[in-house]
Amino acid sequence: CPALPEGFDFTDPDVYQSRVPLPEFAQLRQTAPVWWNAQPHGIAGFGDDGYWVVTRHQDVKEVSTKPDIFSANLNTSIIRFNSAMTRDQIDVQKLIMLNMDPPEHTRVRQIVQRGFAPRSIRALEEALRHRATRIVAEARAKGTGDFVTDVACELPLQAIAELIGIPQDDRARIFDWSNKMVAYDDPELAITEEVGTNAAMELISYAMNLAAARKECPAKDIVSQLVAAEHEGNLGSDEFGFFVLLLAVAGNETTRNAITHGMHAFLTHPDQWELYQRERPATAAEEIVRWATPVVSFQRTATQDTELGGAKIKKGQRVGLFYSSANNDPEVFDDPEVFDITRDPNLHLGFGGGGPHFCLGKSLAVLEINLIFNAIADAMPDISLVSDPRRLRSAWLNGVKELQVRYG
Ligand code: HEM
Repeated sequence: CPALPEGFDFTDPDVYQSRVPLPEFAQLRQTAPVWWNAQPHGIAGFGDDGYWVVTRHQDVKEVSTKPDIFSANLNTSIIRFNSAMTRDQIDVQKLIMLNMDPPEHTRVRQIVQRGFAPRSIRALEEALRHRATRIVAEARAKGTGDFVTDVACELPLQAIAELIGIPQDDRARIFDWSNKMVAYDDPELAITEEVGTNAAMELISYAMNLAAARKECPAKDIVSQLVAAEHEGNLGSDEFGFFVLLLAVAGNETTRNAITHGMHAFLTHPDQWELYQRERPATAAEEIVRWATPVVSFQRTATQDTELGGAKIKKGQRVGLFYSSANNDPEVFDDPEVFDITRDPNLHLGFGGGGPHFCLGKSLAVLEINLIFNAIADAMPDISLVSDPRRLRSAWLNGVKELQVRYG
């Protein structure tokens, strides 16, 4: 039995206020790798009395790759149900592909992955390189400032806007909605759940209108490709709306925090920053994602009684996949506590456990991380830390809301 304090909950945002609970995960990996975490919060009928904490790399992979036994349908992202949430609010999330199971998920994924083909991502590279250079030049001109708002926020949002083909004039609104939709667990940000929900609804309705307009009058962009009415098997306008919502959350906060944690890791490991400037190793972006593990956990629900890592899981019970723990599993990573940008192989699960939901935006995220650190290494290699990062209060996102730096 792990020696965790009474009432410890791996989905309590307070636990993550100052750190990711890596020592506690290590304890579980050794003593009870699939551990039942009793949880009094929740909504009746939604597996509300607790959830399984899966901590080992091999078990996280196993759950991710068996969608018939571990379903994504009951919401993958919210392990800690908010007592104010209604069943309808949870049910509506099934329209997001992250919460779909095959064959529904397979149909949607086949359509949307056209937009993420290597050719589509390569086509964005030049525009994003210029954008990264400009972001860094503007930050440098400031002298000192918050790396999160000056540098890390903008490229991921621009990348999504560029990918989808959002007109330049509309981008500020998209930025605003995306920012409001996440992080309402942090009281300091003063974003109420209502503001977050309204922002989500406005974003969906904006995207639906965009889709309807492109159906009417197709352009040479991804929206037109995904929704073109004359093609068999395309997305409806409403499906497109929920897809854009997912991109805004999945592609924005994740990459922003990978970039911020990556910068902080470089600033606190000067040997690695020097190595990066000299050699720009192709392995760096993957290690940054392993080190940061921006998504702490997602969940699945058992569709039948089953066994995992010695635990007997019952039908209907929820199973939390703790990527932060898997990415520090010494069975898979030599010296996982070392930030090593030449780590190879690097079998981290930061982008998911390799199942049908494996991150659709991985190539785009890796491109963005490479472009931004190349631009920083080119224009301001002498960047330095002013104060420690201020963490976001969130249990599913390993987030930083402020990182004060001197831009050099
Ligand atoms: C899914 C992480 C960037 C789009 C996921 C999953 C994780 C993840 C953990 C769930 C995998 C699973 O359940 O097996 C990350 C990280 C990123 C990143 C750490 C950055 C460092 C992006 C970007 C985009 C994106 C840039 C798009 C613009 C998606 C989508 C899904 C997804 C659409 C759902 C796929 C599905 O349900 O089939 N991501 N992501 N992600 N990600 Fe990412």
